[in-house]
Amino acid sequence: MTSRFAQVMFTPDVQLHQERHGSRGAYARMADAAAPVRDRIGPDEAAFIAERDSFYLATVGMTGWPYIQHRGGPPGFLRVLDEHTLGFADFRGNRQYITRGNLDHDDRVSLFLMDYANRTRLKLIGRARVDESPEVLDRLAPPDYQAKVERALLIDVEAFDWNCRQHIPQLFPRDAVEQAIGTLRARIAELEQENARLRER
Ligand SMILES: Cc1cc2nc3c(=O)[nH]c(=O)nc-3n(C[C@H](O)[C@H](O)[C@H](O)COP(=O)(O)O)c2cc1C
Repeated sequence: MTSRFAQVMFTPDVQLHQERHGSRGAYARMADAAAPVRDRIGPDEAAFIAERDSFYLATVGMTGWPYIQHRGGPPGFLRVLDEHTLGFADFRGNRQYITRGNLDHDDRVSLFLMDYANRTRLKLIGRARVDESPEVLDRLAPPDYQAKVERALLIDVEAFDWNCRQHIPQLFPRDAVEQAIGTLRARIAELEQENARLRER
C-alpha cells in the first residue's frame, strides 16, 4: 500500500477499527511515512493497465450512495496518458448516465482492475474530468471497435493499491481456454488416428 493511499483511506472511523483490532501501529507508520504527495503510475501499474479489457468504476451520487458500473473494451482501452493521468473513451450504453451525472456532483472515482487469470487486482482512486473534444476522443477511441464513443473520461490519479491474491478465484478468458482446448483436441485427433492405424495392424 502506498502512503498516499493510506492517508486518503484511513479516516478517523477506519483508524478506530484498526486500533480495536491491533493493526493501527503498523498502518499509522505507513500513512505517516511521507507528506501528502499523489502517487505516480509506474511501469508495473502501466503494464497491468495496458492488459485489461475491463474494470469497475465507482462514483458517488448526490445523495451519497456509492455506485459501481462496469467498463469494457479491447485490451488497453484504459490508457496511461502520463504518470498521473488515465483516460478512456466512454461508450454509449443504456443511456441512464448515472456515472456521468454523479461526476457533476463529485469528481472522485475509484477504479477496480481485476486480472482473474493471474489472481491480481489493482485499485486506483482519483478525480475524473469529462472531455468531449474531437482530438481527445480521436486519441482514446479504440480503432475498429464496435461502439459509439460519447465522451472521454480523464482521471487524475491520486493513489493506488495492489492487493494480495487471497480469495481471488482463478478464472481464464474464454479465448485462452478455447485455444488450450483446441491444442488438446488436435492432439487427441492425432492419437486417435495413430490408434486406429495400430489396431488395423
Ligand atoms: C443496449 C444496452 C443496454 C444496456 N443495459 C444495461 C443494463 O440494463 N444494466 C447495466 O448495468 N448495464 C447495461 N448496459 C451497459 C451500460 O449501459 C454501460 O456500461 C454504460 O456505460 C453504463 O453507464 P452508467 O455508468 O451511467 O451506468 C447496456 C448497454 C447497452 C448498449
